[in-house]
Amino acid sequence: MNVLLIGSGGREHALAWKLAASPMLTKLYAAPGNPGIAHDAECVTLDIDDHAAVVAFCREKSIGLVVVGPEAPLVAGIADALQDAGISVFGPSAAAAQLEGSKGFTKDLCARHDIPTAAYERFNNAPKAKAYARRVGAPIVIKADGIAAGKGVTVAMTLDEALDAIDACFEGAFGAAGAEVVVEEFLEGEEASFFCLCDGTTALPFGTAQDHKRVGEGDTGPNTGGMGAYSPAPVMTPELVERTMKEIVEPTMRGMAEAGAPFSGVLYAGLMLTADGPKLIEYNVRFGDPECQVLMMRLKDDLLVLLEAAADGQLGHMSVRWRDEAALTVVMAADGYPGTPQKGTVISGVDAAAGEDIEIFHAGTAEREGELVANGGRVLNVTALGKTVGEAAARAYEAVDRIHWQEGFCRRDIGWRAIERERAGK
Ligand code: AMP
Ligand code: GLY
Repeated sequence: MNVLLIGSGGREHALAWKLAASPMLTKLYAAPGNPGIAHDAECVTLDIDDHAAVVAFCREKSIGLVVVGPEAPLVAGIADALQDAGISVFGPSAAAAQLEGSKGFTKDLCARHDIPTAAYERFNNAPKAKAYARRVGAPIVIKADGIAAGKGVTVAMTLDEALDAIDACFEGAFGAAGAEVVVEEFLEGEEASFFCLCDGTTALPFGTAQDHKRVGEGDTGPNTGGMGAYSPAPVMTPELVERTMKEIVEPTMRGMAEAGAPFSGVLYAGLMLTADGPKLIEYNVRFGDPECQVLMMRLKDDLLVLLEAAADGQLGHMSVRWRDEAALTVVMAADGYPGTPQKGTVISGVDAAAGEDIEIFHAGTAEREGELVANGGRVLNVTALGKTVGEAAARAYEAVDRIHWQEGFCRRDIGWRAIERERAGK
């Protein structure tokens, strides 16, 4: 089968690497791809926003499945356009992608179906939002309704911070994404990510992970897209997975089908493990980045077979097997990230740093006159397997140290929580 993969980050490199290992694959195309993805796929230039052009490309190249990596094309309806043209696609319709595209939509779904989540109200003006925040008091969480490049959430520890965040949203700090605001209860607990493959009816659990969002060691400093991740998440016991399926994922699948927007693709639940059990913080409608990288390292089964089954409504017949090892990925970022990252600096030693069960996924690289250069904030994902999270971390950091890149940095404590648990023997 010929496959088209849409996207250009580390998540897509990990997907390309795993798709390329499938005996079912004839040819893999990636649009636009990156220099790492180019090892596994033919990278092509395609305007992803031009759905007619994407459909025409798929017809010309006899594409049997389109795999969409990021959320933006999904929210823009690329899956609908492909489906209307009779082309199989892994990823939700625009209507179903509202689970990520509108926080208010998801909160209302939770309310209708008794899905545990933070108590909330939706607002379309500042005075009412502020009155509610004053009534509830700090700590409290303010969220722009739409997609705001990961920056639309303020966890306000004081009322002043909350009021400022409400003003920022309505004054346009997040553009159209902030025209509506969700104000919600502050949840306490440990966070974990839970993934399911979905085909509209069936949700198949597809692994757990934890990431590190802050740029600095000890989980300090500004938020990022994620500085590292590991899988499985030791806190997600089989009992918690079962509860999450029953209380959160399954009612979501039923609710979406009832709303006429059955969900297919990856459902990525961001969970808070509270004293009262797992609560939904948010949904994403795509794989996490860099969580996908650690999931792909551990996946034993053929990814193409699984994604095709999801696209074709056949997941009820499938199961998933994982390697016993833990996987961990360290993000190497360009100096300046998450502010303005320095671009164009030269990186060497990347291919030689990989090895048995060590993969270096490219996230933001480019090729310039035969040299590999940084071309984004998060640039490389150094990913390793190990018997424990601690061993995976040691192997990943050894590989990091084999890469030569003066103008790059990484956190040295990825996995600390899991490693502390392992040391304590819990
Ligand atoms: P998001 O951009 O939606 O992923 O949210 C960013 C981060 O804000 C989450 O990963 C949580 O750490 C935090 N967060 C979001 N909602 C809440 C909440 N209700 N209570 C506590 N923390 C939250
Ligand atoms: N790493 C978090 C995300 O992909 O949203």
